[in-house]
Amino acid sequence: MTVESAASAISAPAAPERLRIPPVVRGGAPLLGHAWNLVRDPLGFLAALRDHGDLVRIRLGPKTAYAVCDPQLVGAMLKSTDYIVGGPLWDTLEVLLGKGVATSNGPLHRRQRRMMQPAFRPERIADYARVMEEEAQATAARWDHGSTVDVSAEMFRTAVRIVSRSLLEVESIGEKADRISDSLHTVFEGLYRRMVLSVGPLYRVPTPANRRFERALADLHALVDEIIAERRAHGNGQEQDLLAVLLRARDESGQPLTDQEIHDHVVSLVVAGAENVASTLAWAFHLLTEHPDQERRLVEEVNSVTRGRPVAFADLMELRHTRNVVTEAMRIRPAAWIFTRRSVAETSLGGYRIPADADIVYSVYAMQRDPRSFDRHLEFDPDRWNPERAASVPEFAMMPFSVGNRKCPGDHFSLAELTIILATVLPKWRLSPVERTDTGTKVGITLHPKKLVLRAERR
Ligand code: HEM
Repeated sequence: MTVESAASAISAPAAPERLRIPPVVRGGAPLLGHAWNLVRDPLGFLAALRDHGDLVRIRLGPKTAYAVCDPQLVGAMLKSTDYIVGGPLWDTLEVLLGKGVATSNGPLHRRQRRMMQPAFRPERIADYARVMEEEAQATAARWDHGSTVDVSAEMFRTAVRIVSRSLLEVESIGEKADRISDSLHTVFEGLYRRMVLSVGPLYRVPTPANRRFERALADLHALVDEIIAERRAHGNGQEQDLLAVLLRARDESGQPLTDQEIHDHVVSLVVAGAENVASTLAWAFHLLTEHPDQERRLVEEVNSVTRGRPVAFADLMELRHTRNVVTEAMRIRPAAWIFTRRSVAETSLGGYRIPADADIVYSVYAMQRDPRSFDRHLEFDPDRWNPERAASVPEFAMMPFSVGNRKCPGDHFSLAELTIILATVLPKWRLSPVERTDTGTKVGITLHPKKLVLRAERR
């Protein structure tokens, strides 16, 4: 049986009378149910769900949601046509992403994905890598010996500049990158609350937190409009980037995309492209400060491959340990960590009955730290990704970029970017924590360190 058919067998319809009802997880707060656990200790709560079963029912306010804890079942669900992008995460994210590629479904999603795909072809990554190299070098050149660096902010700025310059060919991103970073952090924090505690009208009360959220959201949308307006005003019509593709696109009846559609696509790209990469980098730098032996091996590898010249795309194949560090950082500290889906019809998953229109939650954070899938699961061990050991990792246990028709189109782009940045910065700078560093986890739509401030010393 192929993997595809094994996955579909798990999610294939079975005689309804044979299907089991997923067990209910007890506890939760009155009225709020497990939404309270998702506010108080989301990571611990989601990881503990696997002790209740492979597929369980939880209560989010008045609604029942289904939490899938077993990687095989998650993989089967993601490959099945019985589920669409929907549920609490995506319903909430629509406030930010509108009807862009990440939130649409069906024929609209297929059309948007087709339009976007050429920009992510492997042969294009080599072109983008030149921008990645330049931006990584510029970041490494900006710091002073002995200074303290807000690494989270620096990585966000670098990631926004890379996605803007490579995919959108926006050269004058300048201070916009900082504004996008500030706004997005506020928006992501607010969106997470709105996702787990859906008390709609309360978020319209003009409290300071709600006002901050609305201001940040408006600023983010205004910034994206500025990017599009600049291109319309100053573009030469010869650009080959994704923004040019969007501006030139016509639908079946010859109509161009509306301004709102273009806006939604650009927001999706900037948000998806910058936030995940920046958070992953922040975690990787943090993990390497905690594991100096791994950092030393990475620097030695880069130096032996490049012999002092700048890191280039052509080096990536040889930077095996650096790539293992990136992969292991994404396993143990995934930026995108909680996902939802909605069932389109009554169906079954692993012998359990899933009703139509059910909200389904799964967490790659919990899955990628599951002791059933990874030995010494809480240990940062990049060598587990050497081919002979990686072969024993169960299918779907590690999927930072997802699988199925919503798989991240930016996976190769991201892996090149993450590797180039680590390999450019670390041979130049030794980074160590200072007192202000708070590496506790900031939980929002993504996970990132609360305040990663590191002292930079030139090697
Ligand atoms: C470390 C970096 C990244 C991670 C971990 C990541 C992760 C993901 C995941 C898990 C999904 C699927 C969501 C789901 O199944 O519900 C996704 C979708 C997406 N990602 Fe990424 N991503 C990263 C970087 C990027 C970059 C650099 C871009 C573009 C420049 C990008 C663009 C997108 C888009 C457009 C989607 C929506 C795809 C669709 O729904 O068809 N991502 N990403």
